[in-house]
Amino acid sequence: MTISSNIGHEAPQLDLFTSEFKEKAYPFYAKLREHDPVYRFTLLNGQIAWLITRYEDAQAVLKDDRFIKNPHTMLSQKQINKMFPTLERDLLINHMLSSDSSDHARLRNLVHKAFTPKMIEGLRDRIQEITDTLLDEVQNKGKMNLVDEFAFPLPIIVICEMLGIPPEDRDQFREWSDTIVEASNRPEKIQEARPTFQSFIKYMGHLIEDRRKNSTEDLVSALIHAETEGEKLTEKELYSMLLLLIVAGHETTVNLIGNGVLALLQHPKQLENLKNNPELISSAIEEILRFYGPVELATNRWAGEDVLIHEKLIRKGDMVVVALASANRDESKFENPDVFDITRKNNRHLGFGMGIHYCLGAPLARLEGQIALLTLLRRMPDLRLNTDAKTLKWRPTYLMRGLIELPVMF
Ligand code: HEM
Repeated sequence: MTISSNIGHEAPQLDLFTSEFKEKAYPFYAKLREHDPVYRFTLLNGQIAWLITRYEDAQAVLKDDRFIKNPHTMLSQKQINKMFPTLERDLLINHMLSSDSSDHARLRNLVHKAFTPKMIEGLRDRIQEITDTLLDEVQNKGKMNLVDEFAFPLPIIVICEMLGIPPEDRDQFREWSDTIVEASNRPEKIQEARPTFQSFIKYMGHLIEDRRKNSTEDLVSALIHAETEGEKLTEKELYSMLLLLIVAGHETTVNLIGNGVLALLQHPKQLENLKNNPELISSAIEEILRFYGPVELATNRWAGEDVLIHEKLIRKGDMVVVALASANRDESKFENPDVFDITRKNNRHLGFGMGIHYCLGAPLARLEGQIALLTLLRRMPDLRLNTDAKTLKWRPTYLMRGLIELPVMF
């Protein structure tokens, strides 16, 4: 990929969706940070956007309320109709990550309590139990595809239990969640994914109806309660919130575990250090979030007014994409940023974002990641790759960084 200074020129097209892009992304970001840190480009659908790659700028954009998350505020009805057909729009853009200011605060407050570090600490024993059960199932086989057999089921089981989704329906959610994440970033795929959206809505409709009759201790019941209390949550917001929690709970922590194991296997001295000093797990998790963060690019934002960054004029209505993965490798913020060091101090990475949309699930993701990696290394101390590292491929997704599969032996 070449970089051209493109002020006043046509913006080059970037396909951020491919495995090949992910493969070359870090050197590409490094060039951009040096030569063109506010980079104007064209997405595959023809839309012009700006890619922000330096740490300071990324942090500033994420904290700046001139950058708007709610597409209803920024886009014309025609643009919205083009991007999101009605049915899908209700699900995809009525949640906190697509909201600003008071709407955002209202929606986040409704679920915030369930995700505080104290509440999440209460899940520790259960997360440990789920982790051990998953490893029991593969221990005697001596090998597994770590993504499918361990990293993926763990966070799904946890979020499904929190929401009150019965065990027999979990597999369905994996499929739905994958399809919806792909489609939500590719308007041209939304129509194709319609049956999935419909199945999701139908399933949730039944679950909500059931919890209205038989309220339990789960999050769905708590949200229904908030809905029936009046103005706090509309029906559309309820469905959208559930979708956000399911997708966020499915698509991210899997990659913290998968990318974390990969980073450790690629850096045997770090792996040895962690095995010998399990108390390093907290800083190891932070380093994985920095080095191979599961969320490569923050979700779309639009400039609510003209904003000037490094002499580039981002015009009102322009789309802005913050490259968290690039900010986390910024040499002006991190010493030797391309070195994976589980003992790194002052690791203020942006892996969970920043500002009002800072990840709600961060305490849960950290706990799941810590328990998963420590248990894996304790029970399978001889863990190693079961394939040539060169054959490993990043999933072709837009926002995320995660492996398609990770074959290991132990
Ligand atoms: C390692 C795992 C995870 C990573 C790396 C991660 C990362 C992020 C990032 C970067 C954002 C901000 C996006 C932006 O500003 O555009 C975010 C927001 C969010 N995350 Fe996570 N996440 C993880 C796990 C989870 C989990 C397990 C949950 C809960 C089930 C969750 C729920 C959320 C929610 C609800 C938001 C929106 C917050 C808001 O708009 O106020 N995340 N996450």
